[in-house]
Amino acid sequence: MSSSAWWRDAAIYQVYPRSFRDSNGDGEGDLQGVIAGLPYLADLGIDAIWLSPFYKSPNKDGGYDVADPRDVDPRFGTLADAKELIEAAHSHGIKFIADIVPNHFSSDHIWFQEALNSPKGSVARSRFHFYDGRGENGEIPPNNWISIFRGPAWTRTPDGQWYLHLFDSSQPDLNWNNPDVAADFEKTLRFWLDLGVDGFRIDVAHGAVKENLLVDHRDPERLIDALRLDFLDISEEERAGLLSDVPFFDREGVHEVYRKWRSILNEYPGDRMTVAEAFVYPSSRAARYVREGELHQVFNFNFMMLGWDAATMRASIERTLAELVDVKAPATWVLNNHDTPRVVTRIGGARKARALAMLIHALPGGIYIYQGEELGLPSADLPDNARQDPAFIRSGGTDKGRDECRVPIPWDSKLPNYGYGTGTPWLPQPTDWAQYSMDVEAADPDSSWSLYKKSLTLRHSHPALGGEGVPTWIEAPAGIMHFTREPGLEVVVNTTDNQITVAVSGSSILLESAAGSSLQGGQLAIAANTTTWLQR
Ligand code: NOJ
Repeated sequence: MSSSAWWRDAAIYQVYPRSFRDSNGDGEGDLQGVIAGLPYLADLGIDAIWLSPFYKSPNKDGGYDVADPRDVDPRFGTLADAKELIEAAHSHGIKFIADIVPNHFSSDHIWFQEALNSPKGSVARSRFHFYDGRGENGEIPPNNWISIFRGPAWTRTPDGQWYLHLFDSSQPDLNWNNPDVAADFEKTLRFWLDLGVDGFRIDVAHGAVKENLLVDHRDPERLIDALRLDFLDISEEERAGLLSDVPFFDREGVHEVYRKWRSILNEYPGDRMTVAEAFVYPSSRAARYVREGELHQVFNFNFMMLGWDAATMRASIERTLAELVDVKAPATWVLNNHDTPRVVTRIGGARKARALAMLIHALPGGIYIYQGEELGLPSADLPDNARQDPAFIRSGGTDKGRDECRVPIPWDSKLPNYGYGTGTPWLPQPTDWAQYSMDVEAADPDSSWSLYKKSLTLRHSHPALGGEGVPTWIEAPAGIMHFTREPGLEVVVNTTDNQITVAVSGSSILLESAAGSSLQGGQLAIAANTTTWLQR
């Protein structure tokens, strides 16, 4: 790996393929739809796409229930389509990152079917976590853990044993102590690397290895509250107490798995990379996933969970960069994904979301953009009868689930379903989304899309943008974040609802997230909830 490897400061665009673009009119996005969207993504200026799973799956959890990790689900297309997509992305200068799910398989996977049909204590069962229950007749699950989607984390099989599933009952957890599991994942990595993928996003990267599997947790319900990425009302202190020791997450054994994976990636040319979905506590634990010889990037979820406040964001940025210095890994910045509310909704409106995007685009390291974020899409209102997320179903509707951020995206204001496809979209699109359609936004120089395009273009052309290192902070009035990066960039972020005047050294405005600021005689009167990039 070279120190200037492409992924260290790349802008990586997350495609949730089911909701991106539907080429065959069945109401579900597919790989040919992604191919059709590539010119648009190239125009936007992204460096890579990460595709959420498109593997064979009964689709109980949006494809994160993988029934065959080395084949494509017919609803998305064929293996030939996947190959065509990887090649087409490359021909547009876009790298391709696949998703890999080591924590669990689908219950439709041949191994699990074999396990169900095999006796207690068999090798087939030892690939998962099968145990006898407690109580006189084994009717009580082996421990009291709760699924992340609510309800018990154990399901009983007809012969009386129970199996562990941290997510839906259709997602049995794999037992990484069984060498078959490691061998199979190595095969999967090589399969996709041989097909030309440039990297992997690793699902629940901190989860594969469990400890104390037969021990009850002191407060399993509250633990699941604390693990949610969607900002439940929980104090930092309580969250810290619960997250500092999760028996099924962030165990030492996971690192051995990733050291092996890294050695496999290193066999391939071209700076292949990995990014870990590892929500661990405290944040310094995340750096352990990107130590030398392990993974390349880890999503910065701690920053993603913050509100729009200059002081807390600055503290988090400084902490993130400091935590990664020793391991020499670049930071990542992410505002939302297919599991969280959309940033516009979470942060309190499009204006703040645009300013926040321009903040993270100016920071050292890599950025992630979730499809539709560039259009400024809010989370969509959905009727309960449209919701499909297992989190909604398993919680009996008390948890609304994640469908609101997964609604198919709008391409063309003049076409049915906003050009997503001709069939009825699998989740209903709001009636007021023509305003966010790509054709409308591309024609408007002040749209969110145009801002993202300008910002991503500058990230490629301006010598101070992208890259690594640390910003130079300048003390600023309350509610203002102010820093410079060399050579020649000055960034001012106003997180307040008032215009504030800040002394600056920049001589011209390069880009601003909203109009309304003015620069005169070294004084920037920066409008409310705005980020401004200045040229020094
Ligand atoms: C994290 C994925 O992002 C989410 O969508 C999925 O439900 C869980 N992991 C389980 O795979």
